[in-house]
Amino acid sequence: MAGRRDGLVLREKLQGSRRSRIAVAITLGILLGCALTLLYPGGLFSSDPPARLPHRPKSDLQIDSSSCESEERVNALKSDIASLSEKNVDLKKQVRELQEKLRMAEQGQDNAQKQFLVLGEQHKAGPFGTVKGLRTNPTVMPDESVNQRLAKLLEEVAIRKEIIVALANSNVKDMLEVWFTSIKKVGIPNYLVVALDNEIAELCQSNEVPMYKRDPDQDIDSIGKTGGNHAVSGLKFRILREFLQLGYSVLLSDVDIVYLQNPFDHLYRDSDVESMTDGHNNRTAYGYNDVFDEPGMGWARYAHTMRIWVYNSGFFYIRPTIPSIELLDRVAGRLSRETNSWDQAVFNEELFFPSHPGYEGLHAAKRTMDHYLFMNSKVLFKEVRKDADLSKLKPVIVHVNYHPDKLPRMKAVIEFYDNGKKDALQSFPDGSEW
Ligand SMILES: *[C@@H]1O[C@H](CO)[C@@H](O)[C@H](O)[C@H]1NC(C)=O
Repeated sequence: MAGRRDGLVLREKLQGSRRSRIAVAITLGILLGCALTLLYPGGLFSSDPPARLPHRPKSDLQIDSSSCESEERVNALKSDIASLSEKNVDLKKQVRELQEKLRMAEQGQDNAQKQFLVLGEQHKAGPFGTVKGLRTNPTVMPDESVNQRLAKLLEEVAIRKEIIVALANSNVKDMLEVWFTSIKKVGIPNYLVVALDNEIAELCQSNEVPMYKRDPDQDIDSIGKTGGNHAVSGLKFRILREFLQLGYSVLLSDVDIVYLQNPFDHLYRDSDVESMTDGHNNRTAYGYNDVFDEPGMGWARYAHTMRIWVYNSGFFYIRPTIPSIELLDRVAGRLSRETNSWDQAVFNEELFFPSHPGYEGLHAAKRTMDHYLFMNSKVLFKEVRKDADLSKLKPVIVHVNYHPDKLPRMKAVIEFYDNGKKDALQSFPDGSEW
C-alpha cells in the first residue's frame, strides 16, 4: 500500500494540477461506497468488484464492499486520507519551491540574454579544442563631457589612446625626478603626471614634463595635498575613472619605478587589467595549487587550494571597458567606506573573489605581467643580481616596491642597467632591516 501511494505521489508530482481533483474524487468515491454498502449490503453488482463504481478515480485506494462494515476499517481509511492530505501540503510546498527555482532560472536567463544581445550573434559551440571564450571586452564609447580639459590634454599627449599616468605630491618629489628622467631617457612621449600640489606642478613645468593639475574645487583634492601613501591610493582610483571614460587605456604607475624599455612594446592588451605581480617566481606570480594538510582527516587529509601572489596596484595597465570602470568604482567605494583597508588588498579582492551567496563577483579579465620584464625589487635583489644569466636581461621596468630605501635603490638600478656599472647593486641587502 505504501509503495503504491508513493506511486501516486510521483504521478501527482508530474500532474500537480490534478492532485486536488483526485483528492475530491477519492473522498466522493469513499462516501458513495459507504452509502451503497449500507443500502445494498449484499453488493450492488454481486459478481463485480466495486472498482467499477462510477466516479471512482484510478486510485490505489481499493475499497471493497466489506470495508465499511467495521468502524475500524473506516477509521483506517480516514487516517489514509489524512496522510494523503498531509502529502498534499508537502507537494504544495514542493511546487512553490519549484516555481521559485523556475523564476530564478528565468531571471538568470534574462541576464544572459541581455549580455548576448550586447555581444552579438548566438553561436553553436565548435568542435573539441576549438572553442575560446571572449576575453577582450569592447571599449566604452568615449564621453568628452566628463572632462573637456583633460580630453584636450590627452589628445595631445596620448599615443594610440594609451598613456602612462602617475599621481604625485611633494612627498615623492625626489623619486618623481628619477621616474621622469628614466622615462625621457627611454624616449617614451605618452606619459602624464597628475600633480596633486603646486610644487609638483612647477617641477613638471620647469622640466617639460606633461602635467595635469586637477580643478581645485574638486573636494577630493584635499586628500591629495596632505594625504599619505594610502590616502592618495584611494584618490587614484577616482581620478583614473575619468581617463577611462574618455576612452583611454592607462598604464598606472607609482613613482618608485625606473623605466628601462618602453612598456607599450610589451603589453598583450587582451584583458581588462594587465598587472605586474608581487610574486617572485613562476608559481607565486602565475598561480599554483597549494596543498593544505590536515592529518586528522585521514584519507582526506590533503585539501587543495589555489594561490597567487597579489597584483601590484602600483603598476597596472587598464583598458577602458565596463568591467574596468566597475573595478575602479568598487575599489574607490570600498576605500571610502572602510577606513583601515589597504588599497592593494581591496584591488585584488575585487579582481579575484568569485560570486557567492550575497556577493556578485566582478567579471573582469586579468593577465599577470612577466615577472622578469616587469620586475619587483625582491626579484632583482634576491635573485637576478646574483645570477649571471638573469642579470644580462634588461627588464622593461623595475619597481622598488619591496624596499623602503627607494631612492638609492632606484639610482642604483639606473647605474646597473643603463650605465653598465656592474657592482652598482652589490652594496644593498636582500631585504631591509626590521
Ligand atoms: C617560467 O615560465 C616561463 C614562461 O611561462 C617559462 O619559459 C620558464 O621556463 C619557466 N621557468 C621555470 C623555472 O619553470
